[in-house]
Amino acid sequence: MTKYIITGGRPLNGEISISGAKNAALAIIPAALLVSGRCRIENIPQIKDVTIQLQILQHMGADVRMVDSHTMDIDCTGISSPIADFDEMRQIRASYYHIGTLLGRFGEAVVAMPGGCDFGGVRPIDQHVKGFHAMGADVEVRNGVVYAKAATGRMHGAYVNLDVVSVGATMNIMLAAVLAEGITVIENAAREPHIVDLANFLNSMGADVRGAGTNVIKIRGVKKLTGGTYAIIPDQIEAGTYMTAVAAAGGSVLVKNVIPRHLNCISSKLEEMGVDIINMEDSVLVRRRGALHRANVKTMPYPGFPTDMQPQIATVLCLAQGTSIITEGVWDSRYKYVSELLRMGANVQVNGRIAVIEGVKRLTGAAIKSWDLRAGAAMVIAGLCAEGVTEVEGVNYIERGYENLVEKLRSVGADIESVYVPDPEGVEEEEAV
Ligand code: EPZ
Repeated sequence: MTKYIITGGRPLNGEISISGAKNAALAIIPAALLVSGRCRIENIPQIKDVTIQLQILQHMGADVRMVDSHTMDIDCTGISSPIADFDEMRQIRASYYHIGTLLGRFGEAVVAMPGGCDFGGVRPIDQHVKGFHAMGADVEVRNGVVYAKAATGRMHGAYVNLDVVSVGATMNIMLAAVLAEGITVIENAAREPHIVDLANFLNSMGADVRGAGTNVIKIRGVKKLTGGTYAIIPDQIEAGTYMTAVAAAGGSVLVKNVIPRHLNCISSKLEEMGVDIINMEDSVLVRRRGALHRANVKTMPYPGFPTDMQPQIATVLCLAQGTSIITEGVWDSRYKYVSELLRMGANVQVNGRIAVIEGVKRLTGAAIKSWDLRAGAAMVIAGLCAEGVTEVEGVNYIERGYENLVEKLRSVGADIESVYVPDPEGVEEEEAV
């Protein structure tokens, strides 16, 4: 297995460039299935989940060609079957976007239920099903496979009022609606930057999606999407992760290739904690010299504080003077990682969706594990600011969502290395789920 070995206590100084947004790429790549002809997609992050998403399209019959390390040409003309029931589909949650794309293109979908990070709660798809049903599809789940079919052979427009603000349901319904007959309105839609990015991709291919980024999205079905070229936006959560790393370790880092307004929810919280944030056109300067102040955090759908930044900000608050309270407002529970912070000397008490953090003077290095993608990133941040050496296991989770994390951190002075350790008794490395 591969571990990260981190010697903490060194401030971070220099520049880090942010890659394309994982959660935009994981929806835009499947969306190519709706396009007649070749799509060129640029600024694709080189991460495992994206590789799996591309493999899924290839398995279905798409022609996928690498133009350069971050640009792919995808032509899905050759896909003729609505069936996507194979192993890769179970390895990532975002494979479920093919329910929407296949329904949109063929009026039918047979898709293996997705996998996805297990942070301790269920990850339902009832809101996705609600939308597909409203648009004329019969949907049932049997033996871990979703069977969906439009009664008339083609999806039709519908008014869908989501019971829960759901990123996945918003994007999946959008995918099913762009080639449907008529107009679809999604009320209580998610407003994340990656929702807007998917809408912009679809519109650049000839779709008619309006209102993305607000809580009401209107999609007018068109007959056909033609090919084109599209560049994915920078990753809000990757940028936020490095911003919190500087907050924890101290120093001054220019985080480049970002859209600063996407980071406002993170920047304002860090400023409240005593971190200096200077916004520029496509970068933010993050500097922490003095003591960290306590703060309360409530994770919410965008433009609130992102749930995918919760483990990272919690780790920083472990070193802030005073008592901080975190309320997880999106997932039932997302605190499995706290057990690892306690091993490092943190003082955190969890009760359901609430974590109460008493700041401590220091964390001490330990052997810790990554429970999921963002928790793993938080463990790296803990190691960067701890005294002594920290060994982080489960880095396969981290590498699902962060391109070149070790290299990026080393470039700003972190003492971190990736070390391969033969598995004891040949225990297989945990599958990325
Ligand atoms: C996306 O997951 C992201 N994953 C998650 O990021 C992120 O945590 C989440 O959005 C919230 O921002 C990808 O984009 C691949 P949701 P998704 O549907 O779409 C409930 C990461 O680290 N819900 O917005 O699965 C659900 O239980 C990952 O990059 C229903 O009840 O999240 C949750 O409480 C981890 N019914 C809330 O809505 C549904 O049908 C938000 O879920 C769907 C969701």
